Amino acid sequence: MFKRLPGDEARNLVTTTPDTAVVFRPAVIRTPAIITLIIFTWRILTGCVRLVWRHPIATLLTSTPGALTLAYGWQTALLLLAPVPTGLLAWAFTDRLSFTRLIGLRLLAWWRLTWIYQRHWQPVMIVSGLGRHLWGRDYLPRLGKLTCTAWADLVTVRMLKGQSVKDWADRLDHLAQGFGAPSCRVAITRGGHLQLTFPRTDPLAVPLAALPLPEAPTVGPVEIGKQEDGRPWLLKVHGTHVLVAGATGAGKGSIIWSTIRGLLPAVQAGLVEIWALDPKLMELSFGRALFGDRYAATPEDCADLLDQAVNVMQNRAARFAGLQRSHTPTEQDPFVLVVVDEVAFLTAYQSDRELRRRISAALATLTTQGRAVGVGVLAALQDPRKEVMNIRNLFPDKIALRLDESEQVDMVLGDGARDRGALADHISPVPELGAGVGYVRLETSPDPIRVRAAYVSDTDIRDMAATFAAGKDAA
Ligand SMILES: Nc1ncnc2c1ncn2[C@@H]1O[C@H](COP(=O)(O)OP(=O)(O)O)[C@@H](O)[C@H]1O
Ligand SMILES: [Mg+2]
Repeated sequence: MFKRLPGDEARNLVTTTPDTAVVFRPAVIRTPAIITLIIFTWRILTGCVRLVWRHPIATLLTSTPGALTLAYGWQTALLLLAPVPTGLLAWAFTDRLSFTRLIGLRLLAWWRLTWIYQRHWQPVMIVSGLGRHLWGRDYLPRLGKLTCTAWADLVTVRMLKGQSVKDWADRLDHLAQGFGAPSCRVAITRGGHLQLTFPRTDPLAVPLAALPLPEAPTVGPVEIGKQEDGRPWLLKVHGTHVLVAGATGAGKGSIIWSTIRGLLPAVQAGLVEIWALDPKLMELSFGRALFGDRYAATPEDCADLLDQAVNVMQNRAARFAGLQRSHTPTEQDPFVLVVVDEVAFLTAYQSDRELRRRISAALATLTTQGRAVGVGVLAALQDPRKEVMNIRNLFPDKIALRLDESEQVDMVLGDGARDRGALADHISPVPELGAGVGYVRLETSPDPIRVRAAYVSDTDIRDMAATFAAGKDAA
């Protein structure tokens, strides 16, 4: 691959006869001018074809006025072309969304590709160590297509032969700074090809208000917030267990409350029961009326309530055995969601050893056997270390909100999550900017996704309690 140039060998030669000058005369081959011309013409032609192929719309937009002027003179060209910008403007004003999607984002992609990525590609690659400068030549990863979405630039890249995804994952900061983006994420698309994501704006930078209550009762994935790409964030609770980890003030409450809010219509329809354990007496006590007598705060009451849940689970298991392997919520056998805030207060930090043992055993039983019979656990936790939460791996789904240390990210989301861009330790501690923001891994992909939960305010909770507790009495 690396062609030897004249002079490379001369460096390594040693003469054994002193005082004798070694003279090299590089072999000069004179290339006929016609061949040089053909090569240059070929390069220009392929360059043009590539330009048209990659940016058909931009090329059309820039070349048409010139072509028309040449053919018919500028007056006719102006007359012919005037409707185009007028039409585009009208389109932009009447249907902003489709205009942005079909024209705006493509123009932006063309502009950003040439002005930012192509211009800085070589220096960024060399300085970050992803490209090589060898024997006077640059060997750079190939910059591919750029697609702009509403919030990010998606850049495809062909790696150099011999590079690994980890080489890139280790240099996300270099890439982000190099191209002037706040952050960068890397995902593999196929062998040797990567997709880099450079966010342009942060759609999650402003808090989200509580979402409207679902119209129809549902236990299916509950909408609890927004994903970074603007799509709704759906959290699956039926048929799994969810562990939410986050430092104090990270917004664990907003995930718990958004989930409860999304399930309330189903609670009213009798398809879901929410059992609340609130050892810190800070979070769930606010909506106590929603839980009826399925609410516990003291460690003793919590242990009793968990034992009851285990009973329900075992009864169902005995009844379902041999009849059905998965649970469908009905009024007789509703989906039971056990919500535990600050679960470490009941396990690791609980001084009464007997209680601690009972609670840990009950939680372990629920998380290992509850899924198929319609008993789920949603637990919130500050410190994800194993000493604090030894059953954390029994929760199939985990959410990492703001964490204090970088090592904690992989403890929550699994190995390599932080390398792939789950920077949960970099989330802002300012509540408006960072509370409720976190990373999740969906079943379908190993790449973590940034999300933000909607904030259910105290007023919202009071309203929910007033509406639904009343409904309960009436029923
Ligand atoms: N999703 C959110 N969006 C905006 N602000 C939030 C959100 N969740 C929480 N907050 C703010 O952050 C503060 C702490 O949230 P909280 O849920 O009590 O944290 P934690 O339970 O993790 O300690 C709240 O008082 C609220 O002002
Ligand atoms: Mg809390």
